[in-house]
Amino acid sequence: MEHVRISDTLTMDRIIHGHWRLLDWKMTKEELLAFTEEVLALGVSTIDTADIYGGFSCEEAFGDALKLNKGLREKLTIVTKCGIVFPCENRPQYTSHHYDQSRKHIIKSAERSLKNMGTDYLDLLLIHRPSPFMDPAEISEAFRELYQSGKVRNFGVSNFKSSQFELLSSYLDYPLVTNQVEISPLKLDVFQDGTLDHLMTRGLYPMAWSPLAGGDLFRGDGERVQKVQKALLDIGEKYGETRLDTLAYAFLLSHPGKILPIVGSGKIDRIQNAVDAQKIKMNAEEWLTVYKASMGRNLP
Ligand SMILES: NC(=O)c1ccc[n+]([C@@H]2O[C@H](COP(=O)([O-])OP(=O)(O)OC[C@H]3O[C@@H](n4cnc5c(N)ncnc54)[C@H](OP(=O)(O)O)[C@@H]3O)[C@@H](O)[C@H]2O)c1
Repeated sequence: MEHVRISDTLTMDRIIHGHWRLLDWKMTKEELLAFTEEVLALGVSTIDTADIYGGFSCEEAFGDALKLNKGLREKLTIVTKCGIVFPCENRPQYTSHHYDQSRKHIIKSAERSLKNMGTDYLDLLLIHRPSPFMDPAEISEAFRELYQSGKVRNFGVSNFKSSQFELLSSYLDYPLVTNQVEISPLKLDVFQDGTLDHLMTRGLYPMAWSPLAGGDLFRGDGERVQKVQKALLDIGEKYGETRLDTLAYAFLLSHPGKILPIVGSGKIDRIQNAVDAQKIKMNAEEWLTVYKASMGRNLP
């Protein structure tokens, strides 16, 4: 497994495992522990979760599994997020879906994440989505307190525009280390709207959510999807590779921007398919063939 050094206290794997769909996997805590150990054995030690996943319950489910193997947490890099709230069974106190990125909420959410996962520290905490009501001074205060207390070692954002990233950065004592954004062969916005240019300028690596477009890449019921599938599979012939997901991950991994795909599957063989993608390095012509198929037009 290739790793990337993000900061003095953070190294991430090129392939990350995501926990958004954890409840869909319908695993007992023993099964989730065994699954996590299998994922780790593939070299994937970076876990991406969020306070809100599973209606504010995925972190706790993961924590219940982690508690069964006391040494496991230290082998993992845990990324979580905060800043979105909505009413649900676990959080009846919230009256509406909104963004709370106040100092108080960020600190409380991070402390709850620690408790949920039975750990003393988070490797990386992200602001889940940019709020149109964002007060960077509040976020800065929360980050400072969380860092100084040792509860959070690194900070980042998710779904931020470059301008929002820079705005928040200008208030911080500690640099933001990543922007987690949607990237897949079917979602190319970051290559076109400056998001990736911005991260590369800063020497940062994007975490890519929904790298298989949430599974849409396999639902070949549209002309665009079929063209992207064909482009990937044609390139695969050259590499002796027939797995569509492996080729989609290779598309992301081959980009010079050191994209870190977050695999959302609850199946170990599909995580293996992602890990295997590291062996394929698409050249510019191959990469742009997929890009053109997804764009539905030629390059200028
Ligand atoms: N920051 C954000 O705003 C944000 C938003 C969304 C997600 N995320 C993060 O990104 C992670 C990944 O997102 P994602 O789950 O949407 O990723 P994804 O990998 O694009 O999609 C995963 C889905 O595709 C299915 N799938 C995978 N391989 C398949 C195959 N060969 N054939 C058919 N279906 C297949 C999976 O089903 P199986 O489980 O059955 O394999 C799962 O339902 C999340 O877990 C979360 O950590 C972040």
